[in-house]
Amino acid sequence: MFKVVTKRFLNDAKTICLFEIEAPLVAKHARAGQFVIFRLDEQGERVPVSVAGYDREKGTVTVMVQAAGRTTKMLHTLNEGDCVADFVGPLGKATEMEGLKKVCVVGGGVGCAIAYPIAKEMHEKGIEVTFIAGFRSADIVILKEELAAASDKLIMCTDDGSYGEKGFTTVFLKQEIEANIASGKAQFDRVIAIGPDIMMKFLADVTRPYGIKTIISLDPIMVDGTGMCGCCRVIVGGETKFACVDGPDFDAHEVDFDSLIKRSAFYKDEQDEAAKHICNLTGGVRNG
Ligand code: FES
Repeated sequence: MFKVVTKRFLNDAKTICLFEIEAPLVAKHARAGQFVIFRLDEQGERVPVSVAGYDREKGTVTVMVQAAGRTTKMLHTLNEGDCVADFVGPLGKATEMEGLKKVCVVGGGVGCAIAYPIAKEMHEKGIEVTFIAGFRSADIVILKEELAAASDKLIMCTDDGSYGEKGFTTVFLKQEIEANIASGKAQFDRVIAIGPDIMMKFLADVTRPYGIKTIISLDPIMVDGTGMCGCCRVIVGGETKFACVDGPDFDAHEVDFDSLIKRSAFYKDEQDEAAKHICNLTGGVRNG
């Protein structure tokens, strides 16, 4: 069993929650860009979540989870001192940072929680980081202070203009790239984008004409997380890859987004239906 040491909602809408979980072995090896798979109980589904931080001395791993489906909604009902049955990881490959000097990290919604530890580690290594954080509206904005501390320049934007700049991340990324060109400053040697598939697809379209290598972190449906079930397959450069072992980071200019988006929506009706059947009192699943 793995104990919840800290629980804290990150936004006013209480849709994204930070959990610090006691898991010393995972904490010992975890790196930015990797993920874990947890189960609430022995009958529970296996849910992948990105590592948002770790404390090797305390033996804890931080995850930031959006209440999107049945299991994540049930996870939000846990309190400090409660436990989850499994917490397996770290899984997947860590984000490559070797040789980078100037990077633009783009996060969309809860993707900012995944992008944050990557930006933080890069910033600590002395890499110049511009962070573009996009949200639908002010009530779901997260990590304002943390993102500011993890970047040299932070642009916060919302679709409706209720917080920060008004507009989409694609617009601000293009602006920053063009500003580098106009001022004669060094161009980004990498863009790292994490968020909804459709956002990452359009960000890839922005960077393609400039030839800026763009890495995205994928979050397809997963089961075992060890390369055995094939559930997380994605087409990259015309080849089938498994996000859990070959990724989760991939070259955005090589990813077949259309098949990715289609596969991600495959079980949406079942997921929506399952999410309805949660007991408000216990957090448990209702019978019938
Ligand atoms: S989750 Fe089964 S192969 Fe990746």
